[in-house]
Amino acid sequence: MNILIIGSGGREHAIAWKLTQSDKLEKLFIAPGNAATSKLGTNLNIGVSDFAEIKKAVLENKIKIVLVGPEVPLVEGIHDFFLADNDLKNVAVIGPQKHAAQLEGSKEFAKKFMMRHNIPTAAYQSFTKNNLQDGFAFLDKLNPPYVLKADGLAAGKGVVILENLKAAKDELADMLSNEKFGDASSTVVIEEFLDGIEMSCFILTDGKGYVSLPNAKDYKRIGEGDTGLNTGGMGAVSPVPFADAEYLKKIEDRVIKPTVDGLQKDGIPYKGFIFFGLIRVNNEPMVIEYNCRMGDPETEVVMPRIKSDFLDLLIATANDDLENATIELDERSATTVMLVSGGYPEAYEKGKVISGIESIDDSIVFHAGTSIDKNGDTITNGGRVITVTSYGKDFKEALTKSYDSIEKIKFDKMNYRKDIGFDL
Ligand code: AMP
Ligand code: GLY
Repeated sequence: MNILIIGSGGREHAIAWKLTQSDKLEKLFIAPGNAATSKLGTNLNIGVSDFAEIKKAVLENKIKIVLVGPEVPLVEGIHDFFLADNDLKNVAVIGPQKHAAQLEGSKEFAKKFMMRHNIPTAAYQSFTKNNLQDGFAFLDKLNPPYVLKADGLAAGKGVVILENLKAAKDELADMLSNEKFGDASSTVVIEEFLDGIEMSCFILTDGKGYVSLPNAKDYKRIGEGDTGLNTGGMGAVSPVPFADAEYLKKIEDRVIKPTVDGLQKDGIPYKGFIFFGLIRVNNEPMVIEYNCRMGDPETEVVMPRIKSDFLDLLIATANDDLENATIELDERSATTVMLVSGGYPEAYEKGKVISGIESIDDSIVFHAGTSIDKNGDTITNGGRVITVTSYGKDFKEALTKSYDSIEKIKFDKMNYRKDIGFDL
């Protein structure tokens, strides 16, 4: 079977790496892919939102399943595009249709969904510029810190948490009246601040049945001790040590099942991944966010912990047969540490030659932002460059291996966090 993965990051490399272990895979394509995915399959130079070119590639290469890595094409309706096209409608798309992708694409949609189905989440209200004054009054009633969320996709920058009431009001006005995040902040969700430790769970679902993938915790801030600006993610650990069987059961009963049931009750079809961003408050899971795709770098610890044939699970999803599927996991821990370009998540340079990757034998190197230059060298091509994943009997052993492997890798202005897992 021929498969196309859409995307170019570490997540897509990790999925490609896992799929190439399946006997059922014939040809793998990645659009646009990166330096490493070109060695596992064929990279296609097509942007993730270029549906017309994706269509051509799917027909030309007899692709049967398209797995969509990032959220943007999902929110833009790539799955709907396939369903509406006579030539494409029998090609399975792993990733929800536009309506369901609003679980990630609209904070307000997600909040209303959770309220309707009694899924635990922070209390909230949403505002537009027409009721800005009500927004100020709502902030007056809340205790700090104040959590403001742009409704739409804002490249991970749309959540602002402020200690000071005046700053929160200024931010609200900036988002609503000055369109700080463009259309994405024409509606703003203000919610109660929750204090607790975060982790993420992932499922693959066909809208009825689902399999739970390994859980993970990621580290989003650039600085050690979780300080400084937010990034796409600087490292991850799986499984999450504090998530014991009792807590995981609560997550399943109060969050995962009600979400899948809720989609069914609402008549919303869903084929793809659901990423549950959770926070533990008084030993209870509360949902911070939904994403309609896998996490990055979480996928780089999730895929290595799946023992089952992942293509079998994708085929079961395509055939609406996940109710009968099982998944076998690796008992070991996996950790990943992301190597980033100096300056990231602010301005950084690209095109630096990366050395030492070939000498790594105790870890798996996933490429996040790389390409190959005209001399055949692997060079940096993004803020997040490569991530180093290792196994261990526990997360500490795995992390030691990742950090030892990193010693061998070099590129100009390379930066990484030396404290992944510090809070566990
Ligand atoms: P989101 O994009 O909704 O996941 O929010 C980004 C980050 O902001 C989360 O990973 C949390 O660390 C933080 N956050 C979001 N909502 C809340 C909340 N209600 N209380 C505390 N922290 C939050
Ligand atoms: N690492 C967080 C995310 O993928 O959204």
